[in-house]
Amino acid sequence: MRTQVVIVGAGPSGLLLGQLLHKAGVDAVIVERQSAGHVLSRIRAGILEQVTADLLDEAGVGERMHREGLVHNGFDLLWHDRRNRIDLEGLTGGKKVVCYGQTEMTRDLMDARRAAGLPSYYSAANVAVHDFDTAHPHVTFEHEGALLRIDCDFIAGCDGFHGVCRASAPREAIREFERVYPFGWLGLLSDTPPVHHELIYVNSPRGFALCSQRSLTRSRYYLQVPLSDKVENWSDQAFWDELRLRLDQPAREALVTGPSLEKSIAPLRSFVTEPLRFGRMFLAGDAGHIVPPTGAKGLNLAASDVKYLAGALIEYYAERSEAGIDSYSERCLKRIWRGERFSWWFTQLMHQFPEQGEIHAKFQQAELEYLLHSEAGKRTIAENYVGLPLDFGD
Ligand code: APR
Ligand code: PHB
Repeated sequence: MRTQVVIVGAGPSGLLLGQLLHKAGVDAVIVERQSAGHVLSRIRAGILEQVTADLLDEAGVGERMHREGLVHNGFDLLWHDRRNRIDLEGLTGGKKVVCYGQTEMTRDLMDARRAAGLPSYYSAANVAVHDFDTAHPHVTFEHEGALLRIDCDFIAGCDGFHGVCRASAPREAIREFERVYPFGWLGLLSDTPPVHHELIYVNSPRGFALCSQRSLTRSRYYLQVPLSDKVENWSDQAFWDELRLRLDQPAREALVTGPSLEKSIAPLRSFVTEPLRFGRMFLAGDAGHIVPPTGAKGLNLAASDVKYLAGALIEYYAERSEAGIDSYSERCLKRIWRGERFSWWFTQLMHQFPEQGEIHAKFQQAELEYLLHSEAGKRTIAENYVGLPLDFGD
């Protein structure tokens, strides 16, 4: 079998890339380790920057997002029992974000791919990438008992943090930068109306909390917990009790609780791989970088990688130009590092770090006082939250 691009991984990065390439007439095959049902069962953040929403439109899959997504003009930052509104729209000259679950976006992309009859192999075992340092790369895997081989021009590594593509890059050609945070986020999803019409990010002495949502009837809440905590030891009741203790009076009173649909603990990590290109193989999305979820940047950075990569590949086929391919890694990494910086900074601003001593708590207090009493301070949060431009000057 032969195609132009093999996309490894059918998460949002792989599916979005597939759709953009298809629109431009570039052939691609997707190879995914898990079943489609498993991919759709993963619960992830759901705040889309304008750049990401625009890209869904460009890919022709934005219709349901416009219908069902909730446009948010701002969010609340709760600290010392006081709500501080970060007026995204007012502080950024009209920019907003869209609250739309990543699972829904993935479903829309899967449906569009299926409707267009584009080739995808789910439940592929032992996926391996070969010869990407030559002009003739290929990908092998097992599917329904058969060993398959796809020859291609390029391999797009959209296979997430635990994927095979980054792991196959030569060790001497790759640099990895990593910070693991000393706590996790315990998340709970419930069919209850959100406590507030926008998100509330909470810095409380008992730890960070986040009140988020998926729709007008489905809520997503998070609590900062020690990494040693086990999800089995957190009953729904214990979760709601702890969340109440981290909220202010109005939110405590408005909070509607109910049985959890899902509950899990996720570790927090900052991670970047350099470069993102190895010959004819490219990394995009979580395969190349991870952010802590505090700024909701993971999906949005994945989307900008995909935009650059789709553009580079389309340019290659249309004009036989390698300019986009050659600049892909450097161009992506500029935006990635800015997203990484914001996510790291917002994480250290909003969480408790007892192991860093009282001086850290004092610095954090002074910084919050400064930011929340300064128009410039709030603007710097807002500007990063809505998403930085796709391209920066030098
Ligand atoms: N072969 C084929 N597919 C693989 C392999 C492999 N060896 N390893 C992993 N995969 C698949 C995973 O099963 C998954 O479906 O690659 C896909 C990667 O998807 P994601 O982890 O969702 O990564 P990505 O598409 O880059 O999406 C980034 O996910 O974690 C969030 O915050 C992040 O929202 C961002 C988004
Ligand atoms: C979520 O809704 O899951 C969510 C929203 C915002 C974040 C992180 C997670 O910063």
